[in-house]
Amino acid sequence: MRTQVAIIGAGPAGLLLGQRLHQAGIDAIVIERRSPDYVLGRIRAGVLEQGTVDLLDELGLGRRMHAEGLVHGGINLGHRNLRDRVDLHGLTGGKNVTVYGQTEVTRDLMEARQAAGAPSIYEAEQVALHDFDGAAPRVTWRQGGVEHELHCDVIAGCDGFHGVSRQSVPSSALHTCERVYPFGWLGVLSETPPVAGELIYSNHARGFALCSMRSLTRSRYYIQCALDDHVEQWSDDAFWDELRHRLDPETAEALVTGPSIEKSIAPLRSFVAEPMRFGRLFLAGDAAHIVPPTGAKGLNLAASDVRYLSDALIRYYRDNDAGGIDGYSERCLARVWKAVRFSWWFTSLMHRFPETGEFGQKLQEAEIAYLVGSNAASTALAENYVGLPL
Ligand code: APR
Ligand code: PHB
Repeated sequence: MRTQVAIIGAGPAGLLLGQRLHQAGIDAIVIERRSPDYVLGRIRAGVLEQGTVDLLDELGLGRRMHAEGLVHGGINLGHRNLRDRVDLHGLTGGKNVTVYGQTEVTRDLMEARQAAGAPSIYEAEQVALHDFDGAAPRVTWRQGGVEHELHCDVIAGCDGFHGVSRQSVPSSALHTCERVYPFGWLGVLSETPPVAGELIYSNHARGFALCSMRSLTRSRYYIQCALDDHVEQWSDDAFWDELRHRLDPETAEALVTGPSIEKSIAPLRSFVAEPMRFGRLFLAGDAAHIVPPTGAKGLNLAASDVRYLSDALIRYYRDNDAGGIDGYSERCLARVWKAVRFSWWFTSLMHRFPETGEFGQKLQEAEIAYLVGSNAASTALAENYVGLPL
């Protein structure tokens, strides 16, 4: 088998890249370890920057997003039993974010790929990357006991943090930076109306809480939890009680609770691998970098990587010009590090850190009070939240 671009992973990064290459007339095959249902079963964040919305629109994938997505012009910060709004729209000269779940983005991409007749291989076992340091890379995998081989010009490693692509690069050729945070997020999805019209990020002495949503009838809530907590320890009632404690009294009063339809714990990490290119292998999305979910930058960074990588590949194939692929890593990393910084800052501001005690809590409260009272400080938050320019 032969293709131009072998894409490893059918998450948002791999599927977005596949769609953009398909639109440009470049052949690609997506190779995914799991089944489509498994991929769609993963619940992730759901806040799209304008640049991500634009990319989906350009790919002809905006119909459902515009019909069902919720456009938000602000977020709320909870602190000291108060709730203050940051006017994203007003502070950024008219920019908004769109609340539309990653699951829905992935579903739209999968359907578009299928409708276009573009090839995807799901449930590929033992995916392995070969010879990407030379001119003739290959990918092999097993399926139904049979070994398959794909020859290609380029491999796009879009297989997430635990994928095989980054791990295939010799460790001497990659530099990694990592910060693991001393807590996790316990998330609950419920068929209940959201407690407020816009997201609430709440700093509380008992720990961080986030009120988010998937639609006007489906809510997503998170509370900061201990790293060694298990979901089984958290009954629905215990979750709702703890969430109420961490919200201002008016919001707590308005909270509508119901049975959880999904409950999970995720660790928080910042991670960057550099460079994002090794020979003919290009990393994109979570395969190259992870941010903690505070601020919902993960999917948006995957989308900006894909824009840069697809631009570079289109230039390479159409104009026979390797300038874009040579500059890919540097271009991505400049934006990635800014989002890593923002996500780290927002995480540090909103969570309880075991080692900082009351002093740390007071500093956070002072910073949030400053932030909501200062046009300059809230503009800095707003322009990062809606997404820095591409
Ligand atoms: N071979 C093939 N596919 C693999 C392999 C492998 N060895 N390992 C992992 N995969 C697949 C995973 O099953 C998954 O479907 O790669 C895909 C990677 O998808 P994501 O983890 O969603 O990563 P990405 O597409 O970069 O999306 C970034 O997703 O994780 C969130 O917060 C993140 O929102 C961000 C977005
Ligand atoms: C979510 O809705 O899951 C979500 C929203 C905003 C975040 C993180 C997660 O910052």
